[in-house]
Amino acid sequence: MAPRKLAAGNWKMNGTLAALAEVEALAEAHPAPGCDVLICPPAVLIHPLSARIEGRGIKLGGQDCHAKASGAHTGDLAAAQLADVGASHVILGHSERRADHGETSEMVAAKARAAHEAGLVAIICLGETEAQRDAGETLDVIAAQLAASLPEGATAANTVIAYEPVWAIGTGRTPTTEQIAEVHALLRADLGKRLSDGADVALLYGGSVKPSNAAEIFAIPHVNGALVGGASLKAADFGPIVAALSAA
Ligand code: PGA
Repeated sequence: MAPRKLAAGNWKMNGTLAALAEVEALAEAHPAPGCDVLICPPAVLIHPLSARIEGRGIKLGGQDCHAKASGAHTGDLAAAQLADVGASHVILGHSERRADHGETSEMVAAKARAAHEAGLVAIICLGETEAQRDAGETLDVIAAQLAASLPEGATAANTVIAYEPVWAIGTGRTPTTEQIAEVHALLRADLGKRLSDGADVALLYGGSVKPSNAAEIFAIPHVNGALVGGASLKAADFGPIVAALSAA
């Protein structure tokens, strides 16, 4: 089994009910043979979106979940609640959560365990800051984040890893193909040692992916898809990215 290709859109804190028409347009205009298409909207939009795109092959996901199954955690969401309204995936440990909410890799591993228990695929995000890259620490940082964020019980079926350099997110700057290749090769080798099916875990690149650079990024060894922020909000941008992945 080769890793399954995945084009994942992370809407972050953007979009209201009116934005759901973009996903319908995406489903109509861009069938994606050979790859999964996932939209992770704000959690309140998962249920209405699932009703609007039923049967059109687009998967839905959350952007975070709590490590506990239920309880007194005001404002939080349990993995099972996301699954209940139609999510199949959840993004965990995005650098914005690590920065804004002080999430550590240990917390990310606990959330990933909860996601797995609820039957969700955990998309675990890793990435170095610009200062860490400048200091030559990128590979050490990524290896340490992977080691601490990957929970026991992770498999190629329930886990996706997204490499997202913090300095490339929302900035329009992307790493060179060599820089992406170097990190993805490390992830593939490390996962191969940690998991019996590590060769089959889908590895995504994220950070300023757009229609103009998607094909080049998808040609890099061990890049099995993308986690896309800004360019996932409009069908006119995300569609060509999905098409590039489908053709890769
Ligand atoms: P971007 O965000 O595509 O807007 O850079 C990517 C992400 O944060 O997942």
